[in-house]
Amino acid sequence: MPQLFPKKANALPLLSLGGLVVGGVLTIFLVWYYFSPEFTVVGYAPTQPVPYSHRLHVDQLGMDCRYCHNWVEVSNHANVPPTQTCMNCHSQIRTQSLRLLPVRESWATGEPIEWIKVHHLPDYAHFSHAAHVKNGVGCETCHGRVDQMEVVYQAEPLSMGWCLECHRQPELYLRPHDEITTMGYVQPADFVERNLERIRTEGIQPPTNCSACHY
Ligand code: HEC
Ligand code: HEC
Ligand code: HEC
Ligand code: HEC
Ligand code: HEC
Repeated sequence: MPQLFPKKANALPLLSLGGLVVGGVLTIFLVWYYFSPEFTVVGYAPTQPVPYSHRLHVDQLGMDCRYCHNWVEVSNHANVPPTQTCMNCHSQIRTQSLRLLPVRESWATGEPIEWIKVHHLPDYAHFSHAAHVKNGVGCETCHGRVDQMEVVYQAEPLSMGWCLECHRQPELYLRPHDEITTMGYVQPADFVERNLERIRTEGIQPPTNCSACHY
C-alpha cells in the first residue's frame, strides 16, 4: 500500500499549531489596523481653498457630475476641473464675490487652485473610474449623496473588504448606464433580477484575485 502522507507530514501538527498562533496574531493585527481611525477615514472633510458647494451647483443648479469631472468615464482618474471650467460661468456670474477671489486669481496668474484631495487609496491598490462607471457602478454608490454636500467628505471606507463586498455580489449594486450620476437613485423592485441578467449578457465579472488590484 502506498504511503498516504509523505514523511514531512510528521511536522504538520506542529506547523498547524504555529499557524494558529501566527494566524491569531495576524487577525488581531488586521482588526486593529483596519478599524483604527486612520484607516476608517469616513467623514474626512478637509477645508478647501474655495468654499465651492456641490449642493448649490448640483442640487440647486442641476449640473451633471461630468460637466466638471469629465474624464471619469474614460480614465482611471476622475479629474477635478481646471479653473477654466469655473470661469465658463464665473467670468459673468458673481464677478465681485470675495468667495470667488481665489478662482479669479488663479485665472489671472495661471496657477491652478490647490484643491485638497479627499479620497486616497494607497499606491499599491489599483483603481480605475472608467472600469466602474462604464460597467454600471454609480458615483453615489462609492461617494454618497454628493449633491447634498456643502463640503465634500468621504462617505464610504474604501477598504479592501468594502471593495470585495461588491466584487462578490455586484448584482446588489449595479444601475442602468443613464443613472450613473443620478443622486438618490431608487432601485426598481426587480433590480437584482435585472442585474443578474445584465451580468450574464454583458459578462460583467469584477475580479477577486489579488493581482487584479495589487501589482
Ligand atoms: C461645477 C463643477 C462640479 C460639478 C458639477 C461636480 N463637481 Fe465634484 N468637485 C468639483 C471640485 C471643484 C472639487 C474639488 C473641491 C472639493 O472637494 O469640493 C470636487 C470634488 C469632488 C470629489 C472629491 C474628490 C477628492 O478630492 O477625493 C468627489 C468625490 C466629487 N467631486 C464628486 C462629484 C459628483 C458625484 C458630482 C455629481 C453629483 C460632482 N462631483 C459634480 C467640481 C464639481
Ligand atoms: C454652469 C455655471 C457655473 C459653473 C460652471 C460654476 N458655477 Fe459657481 N455658481 C454658479 C451660480 C449661478 C452661482 C450663484 C448662485 C446664486 O446666485 O446664489 C454660483 C456660486 C458660486 C459660489 C458662491 C459665490 C458667493 O458669492 O456666494 C462659489 C464659491 C462658486 N460658485 C464656485 C465655483 C467653482 C469653484 C467652480 C468651478 C469648479 C464653479 N463655481 C463653477 C454657476 C456656476
Ligand atoms: C467603485 C467606486 C467608485 C465609483 C463608482 C466612483 N468613484 Fe470616484 N473615487 C473612488 C475611489 C476609490 C477614489 C480614490 C482614488 C485614488 O485615490 O486613487 C475616488 C476618487 C475620486 C475623485 C478624486 C480624483 C481621483 O481620481 O482620485 C473624484 C473627483 C471622483 N472620485 C469623482 C467621481 C465621480 C464624478 C463618479 C461618478 C461618475 C465617481 N467618482 C465614481 C471610488 C469610486
Ligand atoms: C459597488 C460595486 C463595486 C465596488 C464598491 C468596487 N468595485 Fe471594482 N468593479 C466593479 C465592477 C462591476 C467591475 C467591472 C467588472 C468587469 O469589467 O467585468 C469592477 C472592476 C474592477 C477592476 C478590474 C478592472 C480594472 O480596472 O482593471 C478592478 C481592479 C477593481 N474593480 C478594483 C476595485 C477597487 C480597488 C475597489 C475599492 C476601492 C473597487 N473595485 C470597488 C464593482 C465594484
Ligand atoms: C478588489 C480589489 C482588491 C482585491 C481583489 C484584493 N485587494 Fe488587497 N487591498 C485593496 C485595497 C483597496 C486596499 C487598501 C485598503 C485601505 O487603504 O484601507 C488593500 C489592502 C491590502 C493589504 C493591506 C496592506 C497594508 O497596508 O497593511 C494587504 C496585505 C492586501 N490588500 C492583500 C491582498 C491579498 C493577499 C489579496 C488576495 C487574496 C488581495 N489583497 C485582494 C484591494 C484589493
